[in-house]
Formats: sequence, C-alpha cells, structure tokens
Amino acid sequence: MGKVYYVSKNVGLGMLVLAVAALATIIALSIAYDKERAKNRGKPGDEATDSTSMPPPPTTPFIPKEPWDHYRLPDSLVPLSYNVTLWPRLEPDARGMFVFTGHSAVVFRCVKETDLIIIHSNKLNLTTFYGHHAKLTGLGKATVPTIQKSWLVVKTEYLVLQLHSRLAVGSLYLLYTEFLGELADDLQGFYRSEYIEDGVKKVVATSQMQATYARKTFPCFDEPAMKAVFNVIIIHDRATVALSNGRDIGSNHDPVTKGNPQTFVTTFEPTERMSTYLLAFIVSDFLSNSLQVRIWARRKAIADRQGDYALSVTGPILQFYEHYYNATYPLSKSDQIALPDFNAGAMENWGLITYRETALLYDPMLSSTGNKERVTTVISHELAHMWFGNLVTLQWWNDLWLNEGFASYVEYLGADYAEPTWNIKDQIILSDVHKVFAVDALASSHPLSRREEEVNNPAEISEMFNTISYSKGAAVLRMLSEFLTEPVFAKGLSSYLNTFAFNNTVYTDLWDHLQKAVENTPGMHIPHTVHNIMNHWTLQMGFPVVTIDTRTGSITQKHFLLDPDSVVDRPSQFKRKDFLPYDQMRVSGEDWVLANTNVSGYFRVNYDLYNWDRLLSLLSTNHQALSIINRAQIIDDTFNLARAKIISTTLALRTTKYLSKERDYIPWDSALRNLDYYILMFDRTEVYGALQAYLKKQIQPLFEHFKTITANWTKVPTKHTDQYNQINAVGYACGMGVEGCRELIKSWYRQWMENPHHNPIHPNLKSTVYCSAIAFGGVEEWDFAWRMFKNATLASEASRLRAAMSCTKAPWLLNRYLEYTLDPTKIRKQDATSTIQYVARNIVGMPLAWNFVRARWGYIFQYGKGSFSFSNLINGITKRFSSEFELQELKKFKEENLHVGFGSATLALEQAIEKTTANIKWVTENKAHVLKWFTEESK
Ligand SMILES: *[C@@H]1O[C@H](CO)[C@@H](O)[C@H](O)[C@H]1NC(C)=O
Ligand SMILES: *[C@@H]1O[C@H](CO)[C@@H](O)[C@H](O)[C@H]1NC(C)=O
Ligand SMILES: *[C@@H]1O[C@H](CO)[C@@H](O)[C@H](O)[C@H]1NC(C)=O
Ligand SMILES: *[C@@H]1O[C@H](CO)[C@@H](O)[C@H](O)[C@H]1NC(C)=O
Ligand SMILES: *[C@@H]1O[C@H](CO)[C@@H](O)[C@H](O)[C@H]1NC(C)=O
Ligand SMILES: *[C@@H]1O[C@H](CO)[C@@H](O)[C@H](O)[C@H]1NC(C)=O
Ligand SMILES: [Zn+2]
Repeated sequence: MGKVYYVSKNVGLGMLVLAVAALATIIALSIAYDKERAKNRGKPGDEATDSTSMPPPPTTPFIPKEPWDHYRLPDSLVPLSYNVTLWPRLEPDARGMFVFTGHSAVVFRCVKETDLIIIHSNKLNLTTFYGHHAKLTGLGKATVPTIQKSWLVVKTEYLVLQLHSRLAVGSLYLLYTEFLGELADDLQGFYRSEYIEDGVKKVVATSQMQATYARKTFPCFDEPAMKAVFNVIIIHDRATVALSNGRDIGSNHDPVTKGNPQTFVTTFEPTERMSTYLLAFIVSDFLSNSLQVRIWARRKAIADRQGDYALSVTGPILQFYEHYYNATYPLSKSDQIALPDFNAGAMENWGLITYRETALLYDPMLSSTGNKERVTTVISHELAHMWFGNLVTLQWWNDLWLNEGFASYVEYLGADYAEPTWNIKDQIILSDVHKVFAVDALASSHPLSRREEEVNNPAEISEMFNTISYSKGAAVLRMLSEFLTEPVFAKGLSSYLNTFAFNNTVYTDLWDHLQKAVENTPGMHIPHTVHNIMNHWTLQMGFPVVTIDTRTGSITQKHFLLDPDSVVDRPSQFKRKDFLPYDQMRVSGEDWVLANTNVSGYFRVNYDLYNWDRLLSLLSTNHQALSIINRAQIIDDTFNLARAKIISTTLALRTTKYLSKERDYIPWDSALRNLDYYILMFDRTEVYGALQAYLKKQIQPLFEHFKTITANWTKVPTKHTDQYNQINAVGYACGMGVEGCRELIKSWYRQWMENPHHNPIHPNLKSTVYCSAIAFGGVEEWDFAWRMFKNATLASEASRLRAAMSCTKAPWLLNRYLEYTLDPTKIRKQDATSTIQYVARNIVGMPLAWNFVRARWGYIFQYGKGSFSFSNLINGITKRFSSEFELQELKKFKEENLHVGFGSATLALEQAIEKTTANIKWVTENKAHVLKWFTEESK
C-alpha cells in the first residue's frame, strides 16, 4: 500500500507520495470502532426492535433440551477414519427411481463419557440389524456397550443410538451402517445429472456436499472440524469411470456382485485428513485429456478439445500458488470435471473439483473472451482453496467469509500469473469492490464476521454464502495485503498454512500469523496490531466515507449509508471521527487532491466542492493524468455520494461528460453500471427520452472508435479490456439508437438464420447481437434462437441464447418463456432463476415475471428447493421497483407467503423492501432536475 493517496501540488513537483505512517492512519483509524455496540450484537431482542432493516435473528433464544435437538454435534465423539463403499445405479429400478446403495464403517474415539451416539444422516434408508440402525463394535480391549434403541431425528438430520452403558473415554469404536438413498436430480449430496449425447440419454452420478449434504450420502459426523481420513470404494459399470478425492489404486471385478463381469470395483488411496464437505464421488463415461492433472467432461466436449484451455492454465496456476503459499500442492493428483447439471459455479472438493460446464469448458472458435476469463478466474479461485480452505479449514461456517473472501481475492493473483496481458487485477474494482459497496451501504447489511452460535441450521449456513462474504471478504483482505505489503502478507499466510495443515482454525489464527510476520520483518511498524485493525472491518457492518477538505486540510469520516434516513432510530455503529488537519491535504489554485488511489482502501472519498471542480476539469482536459482505476473510482464515488445525498446528483452526472473522450473499459463500465440505475428508474417515464439522447451522444464516439479499429467490424481489438469495451459500445449504441447499429446487428443475425451451420457473429459480440436481434425481431427470430439453444453443444453458447431469448418485446413470447422455466425438459433447474431474472430485466418482461413469481411462489419454492437462488430471484425482479404501488405489492407478497416461507431469500426480501423505499424517495427528489440536466446536456 505505497499509494493510499497522493497529492498533486504543482506541475513542477509532480506527485507527492505520502509516508507509510500517514497512510496507515487512514486504514487503521478511519473507523472508530464502537465497542459497546459490538458487545450487544446478537443479543436476543436487540434485533426485534428493528426487524425491517436487520437480517432475521440468527438464532432462536430457545435452548433445546435433548442433545439431538441441537443442530451442532456434541463434543463427545471424534471420527478418525471412514471406509465408505458406494454403488450408484445409473439405470432406474423397477419403480422408475434412481438409487444408490452403500455401507460405511467409521472409527471414532470417545473423548467425553457418553451413552449416546449422535451422527448425521439425512434421507437415507438404513438397514436394521436386530432392530437397530447400525452395528457397534469396539477396537482393542474396550468392552462394547449394547444398543438399547436407535432412531432418526428428521429436523436435525441425525441418527441417534441410545446405549445401555457408557463409552469409555480414550477408547476407539467402530460404527457400521448399510444404507439406500435416492440418486435424485436435486443437485445436493450424491445426485444425478442427465444429458443427451448423439441422441442417447446419459446419466452421471455426481455429488455436491457443501455445506450439509455429505450426510445425505452416508452417515457421518458432518461438520467441517470433524476431519478424518476416508477410504473410498465405488462400485460401477465397467463402461464407466469412477472418481473421488484420492488417486484410484486399482479397479477389479466386484467380488460382491461376482458373476457379473460388467461390474467393477474402484478403490481409492486414503485421503488426507479432511472435512466431509469437501468429499466428491462421480461415476460417468466421461473422458479426460491427460494424466495426473486431468480435465474431465462429456466425451464430445473432450473430443472437441473444450478442456484444453482449462488444462493449459491449471499447471501455471498451481505453480503460482505453490510459490505464493510457499507450500507444495498437498495431493497426489488434481481432477477437474465439468457437469451438465451443477448448482453453484464450482465446488472445491479436494482433488476432484466440480464445475458447471460454462466455468471449465472453452472453445477457441465459439467461446468469447468473457467465457475465457471466467474459466481462468473460476479455476484460479478453486485451486486457491486446495490450500486455503481444504488443507487448513475454518472451524465452523460462521467464518465462511475468510475462506471465500480469501479465494475471491487471490483468484486475481493466480489468473494474472496465467494470463499476464489481461490486467485482470484491476477488475477486482468492478467485480468485487464496487459491487459489494452497493450492498454494504444498506442499513440491512451485516458484519463479515458472525459468532459461532449465530449460525446453526442448514438454512443459516447457506445464508452465509452471499456477496458480503465473497466480495467484502476479498476487498478487505486485498486492503490488508497491500497495507502489510504482499511479501509480508504471504509470509504470514505461509506460516499459518504450515502450522495448521490438515487441521482447523478460527479467523483470528490468521491475524496472529500475519502479526508474527510483521514483527519478524525488520524495520516494519504498524500503528496497531493486525487484530485491532481488522476488527474495524470485520466486526461491524458497512464502511466509511472519508471527507477531505482541501481548503483546511481536515479529514473526517462517518458511516456511509445509501439512504441517510435509514438509521435515524438506531445508534450509529460508527463514531464520527475528526482527524487533525494534514498539511499535505491543503491545496489551492489548480492543484487537486485524490485519495485512495488504487482503491486499496475499503471506503469512499468525498471532497470540498472546489476540489471536485478541479478534478472534473482535469477529467475534461486531460483525463489520462489519472489512472484508469481512479477515473472509475471518481465516477462510482460521486454517483453513490449523490445517492446518499452527500453531494448533488448533478455533480455525479457531470463526471460522465468527459466520457465522449474516454476509450478505456473500466471507467466506461463503471459509468454504465451507475447510469443503469437511472435507466431502471426512468425507463418507464418521460425522463427516458432525454437520457437516451444524452447517452447516445456520449457513446457514439466510442462506437465509431471501435468501428475504425476493427476495420468496419471485421477484426477483433487486441487488448483484452478493449474487447469488453467493444461489447459495451455496441450494446449501448444499439440500445440508444446510434445510426447504423441496429441494421448492422440485424444483418448479422439474418445471415446466421439463412445459414444455421455458419454463424458469422464473433463470439464476443454474440450476447449483444442475439439480444438486440431478438428484441427488434419477432417470433421467427425467437424460434430460431430456441432451436439453436436446444442444439447447442457448448454450454456457454446455450447460455447466451438463453439470456437473449428474454429480450423479445412480445408479451406472449415472454410468458411462454416463463412457463418453460418450470419445465426441466426445456430449461434446466439450475438455470430457471437466472432465466426469470433475465425476463424481469426487460422492461416489457418485468411485470410479467413479477406476476409469474407471486402467483406461484408456493410451487416455485418447492420446485426449486435446494437448487434455486431465491435471493437472486427476488433481487432481480424488484430491481426496477420505485413506486408506492410496487412497494405495497411487495409487502403484500411477503404477508401472503409467510406460511410458505422465503428460505434463502428471507434477507433479500427485506433488502428489496428497503431498496424500493429508497428508490421511491430518490425518484421523487431527483426526477425534475435529472430531466432538466439530460435535456440540456443532450442538445
Ligand atoms: C478399511 O479399509 C482399509 C483399507 O482398505 C483396511 O485396511 C481396514 O481394515 C478397513 N477397516 C475397516 C474397519 O473395515
Ligand atoms: C426409503 O423408504 C421409504 C419408506 O419405505 C420409501 O418410500 C422410499 O422410497 C425409500 N427410499 C428409496 C431410495 O428407496
Ligand atoms: C518457505 O518454506 C521453507 C521451508 O518450510 C522455509 O525455510 C522458508 O523460510 C519459507 N519461505 C518463506 C518466504 O516463508
Ligand atoms: C489440531 O489443532 C489442535 C489445536 O491447535 C491441536 O490440539 C491438535 O493436536 C491438532 N491436530 C492435528 C491432527 O494436528
Ligand atoms: C469502412 O467502410 C467505409 C465505408 O463504408 C470505407 O470508406 C472505409 O474505407 C472502410 N474501412 C476499412 C478499414 O475497411
Ligand atoms: C445440430 O447439432 C448437430 C449435432 O451436433 C449438428 O450436426 C447440426 O449441424 C446442428 N444443426 C445446426 C443447424 O447447427
Ligand atoms: Zn470459493
């Protein structure tokens, strides 16, 4: 963090970089942490007073009586190893059901005297032995208590054995179970994925254990700190291949099903000591493209070499992490597999990482630059977990933010190593920092860190997988790494990983090791401990806005809230803080100050109006005097400061005036994201005409620029980010009605319709072209897209077409498409919510999608249970909500469906209500002068 801020004094002096001590002040002291408030956090009743703006109370104060009514395992038994055998059937049984059978023996140690064995088991039919669901034996000389009774607890997902006498502390026991489960298409636990290849339907047995689904595969102590060694055996047809976390150490005919030469038994090497949520079991007829580092996919995808790119970046990224962590790759092999049905983007199972096809497969002829970047960053993210998360695992899910935030930060470092020309590290500003600022500025946000007792049941655990955990986690770790400097950060990290290898930690263990690294670095001094500094950012929600008055040199800070009225009833969690004036901050004449360069700090910056004017005038005369990131930062900060009523809306809009000269992607994208809010708020009002005219005027030069540098659209820009910027230029130019744009697009799509075997559209532009052509076309264009969608063999192509079909303006086509989303033979379950969101993004589709969802919430909630991202669905549909009427509808929706519930969308629904309220206010206050400004500026 050598450059938290710099000051331009005058031309002769150039830029003055301030000393580390002053920089540290901003990071370490800019938020005064209110300790009283923190202590009270989470106390029952605290939240109840303000239920509309706080997340739902994380725990019920009710303390269950019986140990099996607790969601957390008792601490009396500790597993050491499991022998698990699984046999998935890829053909339906006589009932038409897909099932798997298996048996498991777990060796555990008793560490506290108990006459109860409580182990997770969910949706498994267990074989009984003399009336009990398991057999218990002892290892060594321990006498073995007999089982008095056994039963299943559905709510807490346990198998419970009551023993006649107690287990002896220190002794080892073995619990044996046999079970039958359904190999359902629910994307959880051991499940099946189906696809059609060469006209034949094929079935894959695969798994997703995170967070709480290993217990749906075999009875196990299913908590991340219950690490054990797993000896896995998979029984399968000889025409298929079985994969698991470890290397396979031999396949043989099955002695159990002897007589059937078709059946194989594959045995895997024992795993390292690991958590259950990282297990993976897969049976398929897939092929792979190499030896110990393998990419697996459907046969046709491998034959088309769609796995080659993934393989080519995996090696370099693994090398990068070995060097960065100063620790060798902990396993003997690395498998990565692309699955037709997969709920998340990817899952970091140790040694056998699972992906959606779009996140692993890449076709140089058919995929876009964006597809390629996604493959690189997702691989980089998952490989980062092989050490951070898998080798060393957080004790419990409350610390998920550290695991995910960490991987979301270092994924940029790994990807940058594999693709050094992309400048990908800059993109964390758009994809994480600015993205999470938007969420973390709401009063309904929550702190990164939660206490262990606040996160118990599976729904609470899955709510942890949110933007705050991933993106704020990434942003504050990046800040810390740049603050401590990367070598010191990496040194602490390496010591942390080596100390806790194969074991579990809490987040403060990392701070301790970083602190040690600081202390062991000669000459390094930080004003507070890592622990104290990071508490400011992890224990309280939100972030500050730092205000610099360049007339006096004074710096102040306060909690930044998008809606400044949203906290009136509650004590602020941030103390307002004034700093002594800094001489370096006092400027006059033409000089300007710009703070938080690189956006390393997790805060926004405001200035006095004189300094803003000087920055705006610099942008209009010589924007390249500021770095690309800083240009984007000025835009994003002003737009958000205006939303929070700290500066005027006009001042924010003025930052877009220089864009007619801007050719770089990141500032443009930042502006378009912010103007998107204006489009959403006003595209149903009279403001839209003037807005469109202004944006058309601003984007036109960019459109012409790309027309020139691509020789009339016949070439592809060479720079990675130029390729993205071209997509924005074409998309917005067509949307705003720039001359020649729509005709160009229609002619490309028309050519493709005339010759479906030859698609003349460059992959980068396909999304934009498909969407525009379908928007300006009719049923013929739509039906053609549907046929191409059904025929697509590359997942990313299918996903582009799926998005584009939502662009039509014909209500009947949109309604028909919405119906398709609940028919798994038309739209895969994993894609249903995003498809509905795409429809809602369309101005014509929004009311249709909203009616569709509220009319059928009960059904959708059941249909999508476990696989739908309900929170994204609610966010997507309510994005445009900005009238009192819509707010009432939303509240009614909440009331009427309380009995159904909202699952993972509970918090999102509260946020939607808060955001709609803020939108109403904003539109009322801003409509008139926004209209006036756009009207004047578009002349
Ligand atoms: C588990 O499997 C290992 C390796 O195959 C074997 O040595 C061991 O005896 C088995 N343990 C039990 C309890 O079945
Ligand atoms: C488990 O048992 C129940 C009750 O007998 C039955 O309905 C269910 O189908 C069984 N599950 C499987 C996968 O066979
Ligand atoms: C890397 O690890 C080796 C062996 O564990 C150790 O000697 C060395 O100091 C480490 N290097 C850094 C930079 O931490
Ligand atoms: C894991 O860490 C705990 C606490 O630091 C320690 O007591 C235990 O011995 C470690 N276990 C292993 C297997 O390293
Ligand atoms: C692009 O097209 C214009 C006319 O349509 C023509 O004048 C110009 O030479 C073309 N440029 C290139 C590089 O082909
Ligand atoms: C549809 O897919 C088949 C099989 O991949 C392919 O041979 C055919 O050319 C495709 N049809 C079109 C119109 O692209
Ligand atoms: Zn992750």
